[in-house]
Amino acid sequence: MEKGSVYQDLKGKILTALFYEPSSRTFGSFLSAMQRLGGGIIPIHGVAFSSVVKGESLIDTVRTFQNYSDVIVLRHPEKGAAYQASSYLQIPLINAGDGTGEHPTQALLDLLTIQNNLGRLTNLKIAIVGDLKYGRTVHSLARLLSLYKKVTFYFVSPVGLRMPESILTFLKKKKIQFYLLTDLKPIIKQIDVLYMTRIQKERMNEEVYEKSKSAYQINNHLVNQMKKEAIVMHPLPRVNEISPDVDQNPRAVYFKEQMCNGLAVRMALLRLILKA
Ligand code: NCD
Repeated sequence: MEKGSVYQDLKGKILTALFYEPSSRTFGSFLSAMQRLGGGIIPIHGVAFSSVVKGESLIDTVRTFQNYSDVIVLRHPEKGAAYQASSYLQIPLINAGDGTGEHPTQALLDLLTIQNNLGRLTNLKIAIVGDLKYGRTVHSLARLLSLYKKVTFYFVSPVGLRMPESILTFLKKKKIQFYLLTDLKPIIKQIDVLYMTRIQKERMNEEVYEKSKSAYQINNHLVNQMKKEAIVMHPLPRVNEISPDVDQNPRAVYFKEQMCNGLAVRMALLRLILKA
């Protein structure tokens, strides 16, 4: 896809982006994707100017927008909100992040990035680092990667911010190998993917945040110990967990590749869902 090109595949279709939480990339790329496919958009961000501030429920709000659009993209602070809302709708709803739950379209773009860079999704050693308890992108990533053979996970986090038991049980049932660690250094040389995440300040009390905010900070010195062909990923936004000197490292794929793939994956998904 050339930048600037607009297709007509979804001409006449309209997407409502209903975002109750902050977002830059997910919101921007969904709107861009829809418009690049020739469709229209109803962008509602922050919901400050919608009837939500008058006390309208999520269900009533999505019911309203189903009359104006062909698909709803929802970001909401409560886990399970997307699933709940979808049961009231006759049009498709895409989960763009439900609290501490899931972020499935991020996982799709993450997989595309791994595939493009490493040429495979099997036989992978992946370290997932940071706030694994509240960070939803890593929940979806772990579930999606579990579909591929010989994937080994190294879940690196402070003890209080470990991957939820529900995900670990899910992986155990599928006989997927995983390790729970607090230190990244012992495994840095063997991994193929280093997936960094931020500590989710808004989802914990200040004391826990202060204790964990600087738990993992990678720099070029550490990244240069990784295999040459290994990659460093991050769903973004980053706070202080990746020092800016890593941005120029050839292993860093978070700025350009993950973001461009976010647009491509969302275009593909919208076309799949909406094209007659
Ligand atoms: C993430 C999110 O909203 O879950 N951002 C994103 O969509 N790329 C990650 C985060 O907020 O830490």
